[in-house]
Amino acid sequence: MEKAERREIFDRMASFWDREVSVPPRERIVELFNGLEVTDEMVIDIGTGTGVMIPFLLDLNPGLIWAVDISPLMLRKVREKYGVDEKIRTLLAEAEKLPLEDCSVQLVLCNGVYPHFSDKLLALREFYRVLKNGGLLIINHFIGREQVNMIHSHSEAEIIRSDLLETAAAVGKKCKHIGFSIVEESDRANLFRIKAVKI
Ligand SMILES: C[S@@+](CC[C@H](N)C(=O)[O-])C[C@H]1O[C@@H](n2cnc3c(N)ncnc32)[C@H](O)[C@@H]1O
Repeated sequence: MEKAERREIFDRMASFWDREVSVPPRERIVELFNGLEVTDEMVIDIGTGTGVMIPFLLDLNPGLIWAVDISPLMLRKVREKYGVDEKIRTLLAEAEKLPLEDCSVQLVLCNGVYPHFSDKLLALREFYRVLKNGGLLIINHFIGREQVNMIHSHSEAEIIRSDLLETAAAVGKKCKHIGFSIVEESDRANLFRIKAVKI
């Protein structure tokens, strides 16, 4: 029920997402991926939406990008925008249940999506499962936690109003509990970020 409701909400957003979302300046996205080595590796863009992050992921020369989302209409936008590209595959799936092999992925990116996971521990465990040893999980918002929570708590959709972001320390603690090692924990006015390595 909750799953279907969320899917419908994001399906409705797909038609106007690219007009309304403000893509951060290129240098902020480049900085996000600084020092990351994923050449020829598989990467996952969880909650890809219309694929805003895909061009930046392609710049890293990965072997394959899985563009994962629960919303068929968001994924349709990805296909319209990027056409047939052997490096991009859309995948209709939930973060909490990824139809991907264990230890197969070098990077899991969650940009602007973590608060929407209905079971955050389950999703983090799933990321841990699919990542290779040494692989990186990034949970990122290019705005601060308070702003994320302000936007969500004013949503017209009741279910989104409870999709609130915990402190980075609390998210980091969950990651550590699962087995990740934290390499970055930022909880600032204009940035929320966890970088966690599977060890
Ligand atoms: C706020 S949008 C962010 C889109 C994109 N990452 C960006 O930076 O523009 C959140 C996206 O996550 C998807 N989503 C929400 N819950 C999800 C889940 N449990 N698993 C996978 N995708 C999910 C939504 O359908 C939506 O497209």
